[in-house]
Amino acid sequence: MTINGDLLAFPYPFADGDAYRYSNNAIPLNPPIAIELTESYLEEINLRRELLTNHPERCYHSMPHTMDAQWEVLDLILHQLASSYPENYQLVINDNHWIFTNHLTGENHSFDFGDQATMDIEPLDFVGRHVQEDLILMMQRDGDLFLDAGQLCFPANWSLYFDAGMSFKEIHTPIPGFKSESLDERILQFLMRIEAGSPWWRKNWSLMAGERLDTSLETFAEWGQARKKVTKANAGELANLRVEVQKLFRLPKSNGILFTIHTHMLPLGTFIQHTPWLKQFSAILKELPEFIAEYKGISLYRHAVLEYLEEELKKR
Ligand code: HEM
Repeated sequence: MTINGDLLAFPYPFADGDAYRYSNNAIPLNPPIAIELTESYLEEINLRRELLTNHPERCYHSMPHTMDAQWEVLDLILHQLASSYPENYQLVINDNHWIFTNHLTGENHSFDFGDQATMDIEPLDFVGRHVQEDLILMMQRDGDLFLDAGQLCFPANWSLYFDAGMSFKEIHTPIPGFKSESLDERILQFLMRIEAGSPWWRKNWSLMAGERLDTSLETFAEWGQARKKVTKANAGELANLRVEVQKLFRLPKSNGILFTIHTHMLPLGTFIQHTPWLKQFSAILKELPEFIAEYKGISLYRHAVLEYLEEELKKR
C-alpha cells in the first residue's frame, strides 16, 4: 500500500464497465515521474538486493551496447529522486563528479558520470537497487524494440533470462489473442512513437495465491502450488490483487525506452472493503473469458474466489 496506508491510494486497475479485455490502455503520465515510494520501501529494497546477490542470472541482464542508455536511465532516475523526494535523496554534481545520498538506506555513493571504472556495478543495476521499481531497457533499431537490458526482481511469472534480447512481439507471444487481434503490432507502433519528455503509463492486474513478490518463472514450483489451497473460507487472506504500475519513458540520446514496473499487492479481504471495488471486481471476475483467466493463472481458484465475493456482496 502507499506511504500513508490509505486504501483508496491503491492503484485500482479497472476502467468503467463490468468486463475486462486486453487493449492498449496506456495514458499520458502526469506528473512525469517514474518512481513512487511506498511504506514498504526498505523491505522491498532489501529483498531486491538479496535476490540480486543470490540470483544474479535471473535478476539482471545487459548487453554491452546498452551502456550509454544505462547512464541515461541513471541520470533520469537520480534527478527525479532528488527533486521529487528531497527529504530522502540528495544529488550533488560537480562537473562530471556525482555524489548521490540515499538517506533511507543511509548510503552515500560517488562516481564520475559516464565512467564505468568509477562504479562497482553497471549504472542500471546501481539505480535499480535504490528504487522499488523493476527497470527494463528496450533498445530501438530496425523498426523494432528489443529487451537488451533489465533489472527484474519481482516478475509476474516470466523470466528475464529467457526473454533477454527478444523483440517486443516475441516477448508478448504467450498472451492469448495478442497476435491474432494485431494488438502486438498496434502497441509496438504506439511505443515507437513515444517522445522524450512525454511519458506514458498503464496498469496491469492479476490475482495471486500468496503475497510473494518474487514470482519468477524459474521458481514456479515454490509458489504456484498455493493456487490449489485457495478456498471460499481463506480467499480474503490468501488471494491478493496484484497490480503493476508500468511507465514508459523515451531516452532522448540513445533513443531507448525505459519501462518501469512497480508491483503493488493487496489482500482481497482488504481490497473489497471499498464496496464499489467489490461490486465491479466481482462482475469482472465472473465475466472474464476463460482464456484470460487461464493465462493469468486464476482458473484453478476462480470459483472459490467468486463464492467468497458473492457472500461478501450479500453482507453489504
Ligand atoms: C515496452 C515494454 C514492455 C515490456 C518489456 C513488456 C513485457 C511483458 C511481459 C514479459 C509480459 C509477460 C509475458 C509472458 O507471459 O511471458 C507482458 C504481458 C503483457 N503485456 Fe507487456 N510489456 C511491455 C509493454 C506493454 C504495453 C505498452 C502494453 C499495452 C499497452 C502491454 C500489454 C501487456 C499485456 C496485456 C500483457 C498480459 C498481462 C496479463 O494478462 O497479466 N505491454 N508484457
